[in-house]
Amino acid sequence: NWSAAYFVEKEIEQIRQTVGDKKVLLALSGGVDSSVVAGLVHKAIGDQLTCIFVDHGLLRKNEGDLVMKTFKDGFNMNIIRVDAEERFLSKLAGVSDPEQKRKIIGNEFIYVFDDEAAKLKDIEFLAQGTIYSDVIESGTEDGKMVKSHHNVGGLPEDMQFKLLEPLKSLFKDEVRAVGIELGLPETLVWRQPFPGPGLGIRVLGEVTKEKLEIVREADAILREEIAGAGLDRHIWQYFAVLPGIQSVGVKNGERTYDHTVGIRAVHSVDGMTSNWAQIPWDVLEKISQRITSEVQNVNRVVYDVTSKPPSTIEWE
Ligand code: XMP
Repeated sequence: NWSAAYFVEKEIEQIRQTVGDKKVLLALSGGVDSSVVAGLVHKAIGDQLTCIFVDHGLLRKNEGDLVMKTFKDGFNMNIIRVDAEERFLSKLAGVSDPEQKRKIIGNEFIYVFDDEAAKLKDIEFLAQGTIYSDVIESGTEDGKMVKSHHNVGGLPEDMQFKLLEPLKSLFKDEVRAVGIELGLPETLVWRQPFPGPGLGIRVLGEVTKEKLEIVREADAILREEIAGAGLDRHIWQYFAVLPGIQSVGVKNGERTYDHTVGIRAVHSVDGMTSNWAQIPWDVLEKISQRITSEVQNVNRVVYDVTSKPPSTIEWE
């Protein structure tokens, strides 16, 4: 009979005992796991925790501000936001291979985090949002991995810190229950999965600021409409992609040659397999109309009706 309240109480005790009067560092991504760790550790040791939030410029619309609002304004945490968009985009310039993009983003994340961590003094512990499924996965030899799937936030092993991983024994639904117990906002606790490399793998091929802007705006409209239709808790994951193809269209009687946006929505349990989700047609229609009228340089919207396998959830 597991209880979130009891877990929190016991874990706070444990963290206080382990940490003493030392300082703890955490890479906060705004994802469920790192957010819950932030909430838990902060509740245990308050200002002895410092969070570094690396904004790689590949986040969804308003995501960075929301993280800051929640944790800095809401919880009064020590949190350093690193605006690293230029750094990431310059590293990604000219690169179109998906795996290479993942590698660059993952590595750059570590370098940026390292640079920030080096500016801080007397940090003894590094807190991480490792959960039970992460422990299981890294324990298996998965030679057939389709994508490298690193979580941005996977940090180098040679760091000088002692690790603090308070969620290590929890399943995802337990992590969410702990989040609710700690008073984290529901939107955060029930956030849909979002890949570490972010929009970097939803702009197919080379990533540019302009393309990111298109996919970010289209994605924001999609999310707004899905939430507006009350579907956000019913569809496991939904997002926009920019395939990078241009096609002919017509606007105000004039020929256009503009981008296509792809809509992806899937039902899944763990991301290993998925079925494409049937968004009601009237909702899709509204999404399509809004994207083509509100997002610059888009004249076509297509809907992905493939399940996994044979496709994957992300297009890269
Ligand atoms: P795929 O595209 O492999 O995705 O069917 C399965 C789930 O994993 C997410 N995903 C990633 N998550 N780093 C991550 O942290 C990645 O590089 C990555 N690639 C895919 C994807 O969003 C889906 O939920």
